[in-house]
Amino acid sequence: MEEQAAKKRIDQLVQELNHHNDLYYIHHQPTISDYEFDQLLAELTALEAQFPALKLAYSPTQRVGGDITKKFNVVEHRFPMLSLSNTYSEEEITDWEARLKKLSDEPITYVCELKYDGVAIGITYQNGELIQAVTRGDGSKGEEVTANVRTIRTIPLKLKGNYIHDFEIRGEIFMPIDRFEKLNAEREEIGEALFANPRNTASGTLKMQDSKVVAERGLDCFLYGFYSNQNPFSSHFDAVTTAKEWGFKIPFLEKRFIEKTDSIEGIMDFIHYWEKERANLPFEIDGIVIKVNDYQQQKQLGFTAKSPRWAIAYKFKTERVESVLESVSYQVGRTGAITPVANLKPVSLGGTTVKRASLHNADQIEKLDLHEKDTVYVEKGGEIIPKIVGVNTAKRGDGQKIIFIEHCPECHAELVRKEGEAQHYCINELDCAPQIKGRIEHFISRKAMNIDGIGSETVDLLFQKNLIHAPSDLYTLTFDQLVDLDRMAEKSANNILFGLVESKKIPFERVLFALGIRFVGETVAKKLAYQFKNIEQLALAKYEDLIQTDEIGEKIAHSILQFFANKRNCDEIDALERAGICFELVEKEKASATFEGKIFVVSGVFTNYSRDEIKALIESHGGKNASSISSKTDYVLAGENMGPAKLKKATDLGVVILSETDFIAMIN
Ligand code: IVH
Repeated sequence: MEEQAAKKRIDQLVQELNHHNDLYYIHHQPTISDYEFDQLLAELTALEAQFPALKLAYSPTQRVGGDITKKFNVVEHRFPMLSLSNTYSEEEITDWEARLKKLSDEPITYVCELKYDGVAIGITYQNGELIQAVTRGDGSKGEEVTANVRTIRTIPLKLKGNYIHDFEIRGEIFMPIDRFEKLNAEREEIGEALFANPRNTASGTLKMQDSKVVAERGLDCFLYGFYSNQNPFSSHFDAVTTAKEWGFKIPFLEKRFIEKTDSIEGIMDFIHYWEKERANLPFEIDGIVIKVNDYQQQKQLGFTAKSPRWAIAYKFKTERVESVLESVSYQVGRTGAITPVANLKPVSLGGTTVKRASLHNADQIEKLDLHEKDTVYVEKGGEIIPKIVGVNTAKRGDGQKIIFIEHCPECHAELVRKEGEAQHYCINELDCAPQIKGRIEHFISRKAMNIDGIGSETVDLLFQKNLIHAPSDLYTLTFDQLVDLDRMAEKSANNILFGLVESKKIPFERVLFALGIRFVGETVAKKLAYQFKNIEQLALAKYEDLIQTDEIGEKIAHSILQFFANKRNCDEIDALERAGICFELVEKEKASATFEGKIFVVSGVFTNYSRDEIKALIESHGGKNASSISSKTDYVLAGENMGPAKLKKATDLGVVILSETDFIAMIN
């Protein structure tokens, strides 16, 4: 295609895809299928790869996130980012409203909003394009997290309609509860410590270095504040509702996320409504914010040292109830981690009936000094899983002190608690039923070997019948053995067998993830597969080799070494290899031999590609990537922000320094 035609098509695709994104993520009314969307996106990606100079900053392909590793820049806020004065008392809200009324000559309209429990963000748009996103920081300076914010699909990269040409919009980035729970389930799978609550997770995610990971985490955002030197609006409500027309996700009017009222009764009604209804929201809120609507009135009321006089936050009290501890049970995870769980006398809390509470670990039980039949205080607070926050010792009877178990409740092996770890583990991994079943379930799961037709009940039945002890046993199953199982139809049995055959096509990186090595999640498995190419090399890798790999630190390296040091793991890999599972990276066909035998060092940040994309391009054109500059280096590919020390070293050694543009010219 000619450049002119490509430009036209790229513009068209960007516009079309952004429109569909909008329909999907903001209006929840897609008009094309996911497949059709992906087809358009694939066409755009291909065109952008062919004509990198035509790639638009607001292209939907830019949502995927680069993988630039950099510390965040600290930037000054154009408008200070203030906080709100807080109260837990309705009376104080009434006093505040009465005070404002006295101060003002005109009647006041208020806007009531939800107080989202997330991270505040300020996003600057110029000429309709997202150019910068900054966290609150200390209110006058914050961290620039633009690359990460770009991955949030409800935040437009390019505005539509009749927008203002230079403004900042502020709002709250949060993690929806279902995403938080999914993330924790995945972390539990690979034996990672769980996140405490959606707010901390959102804030941690926003500060991650790898925006690809951010993109996968499913953050969301509501926008609730407009700031501009050329502010054409006369009220907060008008500004926010107009921003909706430009493509922003603003709090939903129809769901009462935002509401105008002229009276304290209206404010109280909003508060009371959400005090009850908050339990049904798909995200967490910790209160209500009340703002004076009219900008002129806001200006008259002004600010105290820390917060505006024209707004106030009413915070919900954390609901706390009493219940009786009936027993403590212990769950064994796939990795052998033991989690104590409190079984409680059912009690109603925050709109749901609570029967169980997490006790996390032995220290937690010790800290609470829990005794049998204790009357305990239970809170839901900001966290999803209710927790025991204390004991009403006045009501204590003669119950025995709860002593953490010493043996696995399933296989009776002695438990181990490693230094520096909070969790107890059953290390009898190869003979402990929930661990064996958990490993097989992980192996067949969708993101691993994706074997259709087998669920956890089938795994359980097969295990009970002594037919499977390890994933490799799945490949020895026969049709007769399967149809023999309870409630297994012939068609289902055939499905399973077909799924097993199909799984032999699963690429090495996913097989590596499927093995369930502790701390080796999807991303780490990919990095390992690309670095070591096959299982033999990975098994032979020494500690030093492992930690030189991207994203592999001490903890993961030790876990990998430990895994391969266990003969039964190696035997299992042999058995899987014999069954035909792929243990070798299938390299993509080379695009050219332009860089055959040349060694590159890639440094800095690039405009058209992420660092990983650049490295992949080097390899696909025959070159090799090295991590540090030496006399063997042929080229240094220098992006923005490349350190001066590196630049000097390259110059001293006479290495050719390429810019991104030079590089693109060479591969084209
Ligand atoms: S307005 C000057 N509106 O609460 C007014 N803030 O302590 C600035 N927040 O840092 C904030 N929901 O992170 C406002 N609807 C809402 C909010 C909200 C949550 C957070 C925000 C801010 C903190 C205020």
